[in-house]
Amino acid sequence: MSKHHNQPTAADSKIRLRVRRQKDAQSLPYWEDFEIPYQKGHNVISLLMEVRKNPLNAQGQRVEPVVWDCNCLEEVCGACSMVINGRAQQGCTALVDQLDQPIVAEPLDKFPIVRDLVVDRTRMFENLKRVKAWVDIDGTYSLGMGVRQDPEEALTRYKLSECMSCGVCLQVCPQVALDNKFVGAAIINQVQLFNTHPVGTYKANERLDVLMQEGGIADCGNAQNCVEACPKSIPLTESIAKVGRAATMRMIRKHLGV
Ligand code: SF4
Ligand code: FES
Repeated sequence: MSKHHNQPTAADSKIRLRVRRQKDAQSLPYWEDFEIPYQKGHNVISLLMEVRKNPLNAQGQRVEPVVWDCNCLEEVCGACSMVINGRAQQGCTALVDQLDQPIVAEPLDKFPIVRDLVVDRTRMFENLKRVKAWVDIDGTYSLGMGVRQDPEEALTRYKLSECMSCGVCLQVCPQVALDNKFVGAAIINQVQLFNTHPVGTYKANERLDVLMQEGGIADCGNAQNCVEACPKSIPLTESIAKVGRAATMRMIRKHLGV
């Protein structure tokens, strides 16, 4: 991404957007070009909103508006992940003034396609359920004060908790494919978060046991693309290394019956 090449200016007056479209999971993909009147401060989601308001392609033909996912518009929910100019990222924080044109938007291809830029991230949510990525409560009544936490450790965990399940780390991982079961860095990071949380730790072994099954931590190939690409700068490779060590210890203890 260049900050100075092919940037739109008021003089160009048009922003060129190329979208990889697909009607549904069974249809063939195709490219469609759009030209949107230049306005300072657009991001890719606001461009798509302009297309929805006036769904004419670059040839002036009326087309079905492009479909995409978004929610928070401030890089917190993770819903708007897509591949923009070849890089997996959030559409809401991809600033048009910093992107080469035509801006090329494609859906993530490590998740099943739903339509246009919408993909199905169920794989991630199902795996979060499998590893019990939560802290249980045993009722709706007050449980009293929580366990006292070391502020420094709490701060470390806070960083891990910023994961928004955006799927970017799975998209860039060479070990993740549509037809395999590798859980990916985000899930392993959540295991590290909850296994080191004073209230979550009692389920640590259950979580490690899931990660020792097919698609678990042994499938990580240490490419380290995940840590480079994570928009929240989560130290994913550290989490993977720590969970890997814990899984090895768990295996040894199980083997020795201790
Ligand atoms: S770990 Fe980072 S890249 Fe992966 S899902 Fe969470 S926020 Fe997205
Ligand atoms: S809309 Fe929530 S991260 Fe972009």
